[in-house]
Amino acid sequence: MWPYPRTLAHRGGGILAPENTVAALRCGLAYGYRAVEFDVMLASDGVPVVVHDPELGRTVAGSGHINDYTAAQLGTMEAGAWFGAEFAGEGVPTFEAVVAYCKAQHIWMNIEIKPAPGFDVQTGMVVARATRGYFAEEIAAGELLPLLSSFSIDALEAAHQAAPQLARGWLVEQIPSDWAKKAKELGVVAIHCDHQQLTRELAREVKEAGYWLFCYTVNTPERASELLAWGVDGFCTDRIDIIPFMA
Ligand code: G3P
Ligand code: MG
Repeated sequence: MWPYPRTLAHRGGGILAPENTVAALRCGLAYGYRAVEFDVMLASDGVPVVVHDPELGRTVAGSGHINDYTAAQLGTMEAGAWFGAEFAGEGVPTFEAVVAYCKAQHIWMNIEIKPAPGFDVQTGMVVARATRGYFAEEIAAGELLPLLSSFSIDALEAAHQAAPQLARGWLVEQIPSDWAKKAKELGVVAIHCDHQQLTRELAREVKEAGYWLFCYTVNTPERASELLAWGVDGFCTDRIDIIPFMA
């Protein structure tokens, strides 16, 4: 059985805070969310940071690419003001800082490996290695670990090479017809898909094959109930204000 929480705050705090910031994690927690999904990419110095877009401009003020800047530089950049003046001063956090916050607050993590174009293998390797290091004690004690996921096959394979003890989910928009063969080759434990592309039949197929099934991004309580009735194990949501956290 799916050992993780069923509802995750998408990008930290959903629509209520600037995505992928520590403020977002605080916001998620304020709404009772002890589970989170966030995106991890590499800065120019190879340090993993928590951010969604490979370019600056939307959530991070400035121009150019995330991997034009070091993690220290990104940490001082403005990643909160776009969302609201009260969030001004939030920087791009390092993966390490986000994990430290989540561990301290007992927030479970779905770590999405989000490589900048061309950095799939390196990002998968670095994120998996870092995660293995941060969770060395939990690994030794056989405790619950974060779940890695990615749209990038190369990143998923590299993550497995680097840290085979970490479970991985394969992210797809739409579950392809040859999904079972691919999932077996990848050695993933879960399929993560866009709920808008999921059918009851496909959900049944995935569950009957013994995989966990996770959906993004489910924003109404009605759809959440429907998906859970189809056998979906968990989902992330932007609407932490109207969908209660389910452990
Ligand atoms: O991990 C699920 C979801 O976050 C995937 O899409 O673009 O929000 O990272 P995106
Ligand atoms: Mg994501």
